[in-house]
Amino acid sequence: MADRITVDVDRDAIPAHVGIIMDGNGRWANARGLHRTQGHARGEPALFDVVHGALELGIEWLTVYTFSTENWDRDEYEVSFLMQFNVDLLERRKDELNDLGVRVLFMGDVDDERVPQELRDRIRSAEELTADNTTMTMVFAFNYGGRVEIVDAIKRVAADLLAGELRPGEIDEQTVMDHLYLPDMPDPELVIRTSGEQRTSNFLLWEAAYSEYVFTPVLWPDFDRDELARCIAEYQGRDRRFGGAVDESFTESAG
Ligand code: IPE
Ligand code: IPE
Ligand code: MG
Repeated sequence: MADRITVDVDRDAIPAHVGIIMDGNGRWANARGLHRTQGHARGEPALFDVVHGALELGIEWLTVYTFSTENWDRDEYEVSFLMQFNVDLLERRKDELNDLGVRVLFMGDVDDERVPQELRDRIRSAEELTADNTTMTMVFAFNYGGRVEIVDAIKRVAADLLAGELRPGEIDEQTVMDHLYLPDMPDPELVIRTSGEQRTSNFLLWEAAYSEYVFTPVLWPDFDRDELARCIAEYQGRDRRFGGAVDESFTESAG
């Protein structure tokens, strides 16, 4: 891994928010005759190399998918490994993140009773420790599902309705956005998924409505800051339209 990004990327056109579906840990391990959990362990240095790359590029928001609401369906050993791994990772890395000026936020159902109390405590203390940092916000999408996030938003909107604070006719997109887990988080311009899978797997369903997706075959433990820069360079070559249209032939002949 290089200490600085060596890939050619336009540093004046860096997306403010990048989301990453960190996938392929199990396959990385299996290919080496290792247990899947060793793939998760090897995902940590990849993640922190990406954090340094994101800081070098000036990314403001980095959201990483660390555990989905569907990942509870994995075998008990893998799930409990991942819970303990998150505890240890926060303990190992919280000061480093704090020293780098990174604000740590979690999005998802952290208070789920299946989440060990020790992990809930570590999450809250990492968030508190880094709350005033402004260099970059790193969001851990943990016990996160895009559908549950929307369901939770609906519940809170319904509560406002019942409390008489809102009328049905007043509900618009902004109302929903105000009730998502992190209302102040800008939509990601770019979502990266590693390991060759080409699906969202319930990541940022509302927020990524107009995100560019970059899919790379690289397995997460092999990902690093240069791979991040390569994905951003691919994003920079995209033509974002947001539903609009440009008829160049017409404008040229009319002009
Ligand atoms: C992503 O890697 C990490 C988590 C979902 C926690 P996987 O564990 O999904 O690895 P593959 O997709 O089985 O290779
Ligand atoms: C998505 O990956 C969740 C995370 C990366 C945390 P999965 O490996 O769980 O998704 P599927 O099962 O391939 O759709
Ligand atoms: Mg996977």
